[in-house]
Amino acid sequence: MANPKVFITRPIPDSVLAQIQDECDAEMWHTSAILPPIAEKIPPLDGLVTYGHEPVTDEMFDTSPNLKVVSVVGVGYDHIDVDAARERGIALGHTPGVLSDTTADMTWALLLAAARNVVPAYNHVQVDKQWHYYDPNILWGYDVHHATIGIVGMGRIGYSVAKRALGFNMKVLYNKRNRRRDWEAELGIEYAELEHLLKVSDFVTLHVPLTEETTHMISKAELELMKPTAILVNIARGPVVDHDALYEALTEGQIAGAALDVTEPEPINTDHPLLGLNNLLIAPHLGSTTIQTRMKMATMAMENLFAGLKGERLPYGVLHPGGVS
Ligand code: DGY
Repeated sequence: MANPKVFITRPIPDSVLAQIQDECDAEMWHTSAILPPIAEKIPPLDGLVTYGHEPVTDEMFDTSPNLKVVSVVGVGYDHIDVDAARERGIALGHTPGVLSDTTADMTWALLLAAARNVVPAYNHVQVDKQWHYYDPNILWGYDVHHATIGIVGMGRIGYSVAKRALGFNMKVLYNKRNRRRDWEAELGIEYAELEHLLKVSDFVTLHVPLTEETTHMISKAELELMKPTAILVNIARGPVVDHDALYEALTEGQIAGAALDVTEPEPINTDHPLLGLNNLLIAPHLGSTTIQTRMKMATMAMENLFAGLKGERLPYGVLHPGGVS
């Protein structure tokens, strides 16, 4: 019997690719740069590994009637038409858990960089070569320790962000659809309605999945609630924040600063007005990008792929073979 035909949308580590190629007729898009629409690439497929956020649509499924499994290298699967996959009995895997601490670390990297002007400092010294004498009156930042952090979306990543906040002696508020009283007791954190959280937090970090409900959940009205000294960190998905409203908030002093690991669209257009702001820091979607975590994610995605191709339950499944949740 012929090996299953698999397409991998971005380069994955060689050692994982080699294991997939042992069992599959696998083609990998050779570069991390622009990918042609998957549907035009090499249908029909038995398995698809998506490593990036390229949309996987119902139309694409039409071109691969034998597709058994979509394996996402990542925790978020908002780019996959889950209902269509379920209806067609296609399994869907992702890589939860393994990246929570890593993404929480990056949340803190962004938060601290924004609070303490790390990028303007780099620009001042190394790019603009302006450090001619010690000036005690430049680049004043905001204290992080003993401040209040508001965590919006308290899943595994939010939990890891909260744990780190305790080391900074911060007051931790969180908002989530379903209250986690166990985590409140364990960490000494407090549940807050979104409106209250936005009003009182010095730092607001976003960790919600992208859904209809969370699209533009931080828009003009929400930004207006925030303190003029507050900093917003979005490491969830770009469309969670309305960029026009954010531009207004950052230029009119409604909030002090922001750091985005994700944008709308992604990548953000190079002429987007947000790029010109010095109270905004944008990273190119680096949340889970460490050597160790990316290896683990690729391995988990491979395990999901193999299980799906064999018609077995996925170890990290959103949908199992037959489209079963
Ligand atoms: C995730 O895990 O969802 C990240 O956004 C990387 O794709």
